[in-house]
Amino acid sequence: METKFELREQDYRYLFDNASDAMWVHDMEGSILDGNKAFENLTGYTRDELIGMNVTRLLVSEEYLNLARDVRRRLLNGEALEQPYEQRLLRKDGTTRIVNMATSPVIIDGEVRGFQHVARDVTEEKQLRENMRFYVQQITRAQEDERKRIARELHDEASPPLLLLIQRLDTVSSGTRPRLSESLKNSLESIRRQAINALEGLQRYAQSLRPRILDDLGLLPALEWMAEDLVKEYGIDAHVEVIGNERSLLAEIELLLFRIAQEALSNTRRHAEASRAWITMEFGDDRVVLTVNDNGKGFDLPQRIGDLASVGKLGLVGMQERARLIGGGLRLQSEVGKGTTVTVEVPI
Ligand SMILES: Nc1ncnc2c1ncn2[C@@H]1O[C@H](COP(=O)(O)OP(=O)(O)OP(=O)(O)O)[C@@H](O)[C@H]1O
Ligand SMILES: [Mg+2]
Repeated sequence: METKFELREQDYRYLFDNASDAMWVHDMEGSILDGNKAFENLTGYTRDELIGMNVTRLLVSEEYLNLARDVRRRLLNGEALEQPYEQRLLRKDGTTRIVNMATSPVIIDGEVRGFQHVARDVTEEKQLRENMRFYVQQITRAQEDERKRIARELHDEASPPLLLLIQRLDTVSSGTRPRLSESLKNSLESIRRQAINALEGLQRYAQSLRPRILDDLGLLPALEWMAEDLVKEYGIDAHVEVIGNERSLLAEIELLLFRIAQEALSNTRRHAEASRAWITMEFGDDRVVLTVNDNGKGFDLPQRIGDLASVGKLGLVGMQERARLIGGGLRLQSEVGKGTTVTVEVPI
């Protein structure tokens, strides 16, 4: 049998005092009326010091004061407010803490008499995330530099000897003296063809590592080149469409967008069994949107893209990270039997 019981005043007091999130209440003038232990820890002030203090003293700068005013205005006008929101608080020792905060009005007899806040300190978490982002950025840059170097070496060091070999084979087989037997000619021709295949393979590999066309001509020609490659090498009908006034973007943005398209198309090629692929670049006033879409078999989207990394699938995770590096967002749509669409939106 379940016994029902009601919480008493002191039980609520206990919950309030011992909650791990900081909580405090202030009146319409900003004068603090009450706060819990976590609030003392967060601010570095004792409860005695806090009570009666004006909350604006806890705000780091004008910018965050304005944020607090905006939250207050929205709550009073019943406007939409995303909660929790991020705020910065100034501690007694002068250091700053980043908090995720939720605010609601205190309503007594139908009238707003003050505001109550719940805040969680996310400073360390946030720093960790920022360090991580910085780390990913540095690794991505290092990886791109390395790819560029290898692509250049393949092009400048590995290709010329092969080219020379092909030219010499040409000279030998077309030379008139001494006359070559038919079978030797055929063998030479077949060796020459193999050498040409090897050279083309090498050049394709170098191109996909770091297409010169991207550095020399920019994103759109590079996307066109990738679409042509899909048509020629894999028989997938691929097109690039441009919407809006095309213009060049920062080299780093172009590179990361190219990498996202490259991975999306590699998925189309390897998993989708698609017959068509569309790449769309939309240039808006303050943003660009890249879409890669295929008419393939689609798949069930995972709950969280991040989970794929632990099973060694890095494509979608990498796309998401790259989109974040340029301040953008990635959207994935896929349905079994209905194809897949990857959309990246980047503010510029
Ligand atoms: N366009 C697509 N069509 C059908 N299935 C897809 C498509 N894109 C992704 N998938 C599915 O989602 C999974 C995850 O893709 P992701 O790119 O992260 O990994 P992967 O391609 O398997 O490996 P990696 O990219 O690391 O070589 C794929 O294994 C595939 O099952
Ligand atoms: Mg992949």
